[in-house]
Amino acid sequence: MASALRQTAFRATLRGLASAPRWGAPRIAAARSMSSSVPARSDALFVHRDTPYNNPSIPFAWTEENLKEANEIVSHYPENYKKAAVIPLLHLAQKQNDNFLSISAMNYVAEFLEMPPMRVYEVATFYTMFNRTPVGKYFVQVCTTTPCMLGGCGAESVLNALQERLGIHPGETTPDGKFTMIEVECLGACSNAPMVQINDDYYEDLTPQSMVRIIDALERGEHVKPGNQDGRLNAAPAGNERTLTHKPYGPGEFCVPEFR
Ligand code: FES
Repeated sequence: MASALRQTAFRATLRGLASAPRWGAPRIAAARSMSSSVPARSDALFVHRDTPYNNPSIPFAWTEENLKEANEIVSHYPENYKKAAVIPLLHLAQKQNDNFLSISAMNYVAEFLEMPPMRVYEVATFYTMFNRTPVGKYFVQVCTTTPCMLGGCGAESVLNALQERLGIHPGETTPDGKFTMIEVECLGACSNAPMVQINDDYYEDLTPQSMVRIIDALERGEHVKPGNQDGRLNAAPAGNERTLTHKPYGPGEFCVPEFR
């Protein structure tokens, strides 16, 4: 009886495996969705397929400047562990390649670090910061995690303003190839919510109006000062100062100046 049950369970497992979706095939029934964010573009491609814009015959090599930087990065690791530099080198390669980590760039990094290309693909496919499909000149990542979204912080209105201004939805690129927008999880600047990251820069304390102003300026080819956009100093409290408002008292002095 026990062995019959085991056989049934075994056959059920085999059936399950046979019907399981393969990588790249549409996922039919997720048990429970953990996030309502659309998948990042870098999640969109699990299997590489050669295309005219992404195939191993497209040459990639460090620029002179990046070769120096790559050697500098590798010099921080022991000679027999230089593969530990794979993440910073993939970042460097992506940056050199207009924010897009192509198969040629991954192969080049593998060769540079003398490691099997598969090991590099494993890293590049694991981290969503690596874009394995081309993105626009300006890669706009909108944080829509709880602190940016809740309490009037307004991530949703910033996202809506972006969608309206650019005419695209998260995961899409404008027809002129200038802007790609995605939704992302917390970027670690919650005290200046809501915020977006555009290429390497953070733009914080945004409103729908300031967001549109930034996009307008970038479209005109102007530089926009990153950081706080509402006049607040870094992450200091909004409005008047509420702490450290008097001269610090000295040793032995009564600690509350008003009661002296
Ligand atoms: S939640 Fe948006 S930066 Fe942390």
